[in-house]
Amino acid sequence: MSNIERHSHWQNIYQTKGERDVSWFQESPRISLDLIRETGAKTDAPIIDIGGGASRLVDALLNAGFERITVLDLADKALAMAKARLGARSTKVKWIAADVTTWEPPQLYEVWHDRAAFHFLSWLIRRIAPPMPSGCCELCVPEGM
Ligand SMILES: C[S@@+](CC[C@H](N)C(=O)[O-])C[C@H]1O[C@@H](n2cnc3c(N)ncnc32)[C@H](O)[C@@H]1O
Repeated sequence: MSNIERHSHWQNIYQTKGERDVSWFQESPRISLDLIRETGAKTDAPIIDIGGGASRLVDALLNAGFERITVLDLADKALAMAKARLGARSTKVKWIAADVTTWEPPQLYEVWHDRAAFHFLSWLIRRIAPPMPSGCCELCVPEGM
């Protein structure tokens, strides 16, 4: 899938489905929040949610007091949904509409979070991963990861 096709694929999903209509919707992203807390990151740590879409993780991070949150997604429509839900609180978050495969991070992030975004990029992992012994590849990077 080309970058343009990937963008229109995801944009189309968020244009045609409501926040709750996607199979990956979570009312409460508790596991992600627990994992982020377990990193020991302080509330002033820069945190980025890659492929955050319209996820409620950003709401939960704001509620938990995190101050330097960035959400990146290919689909600006998804980011618009999250911003609309947060209302005035959305100004406390940095929103980046970009393809993570070509995006150049402008700073260091203490925590990179991804839920079901890199999952779709197994082709990239195959391209950048060092060569594996023959027969190993499917074990190391199973199809669909
Ligand atoms: C299955 S959704 C998961 C959304 C969110 N992480 C959640 O847990 O609700 C995958 C997300 O990854 C985004 N995405 C897919 N490929 C991407 C890419 N190359 N760069 C940035 N975002 C991407 C999609 O737009 C979509 O919002």
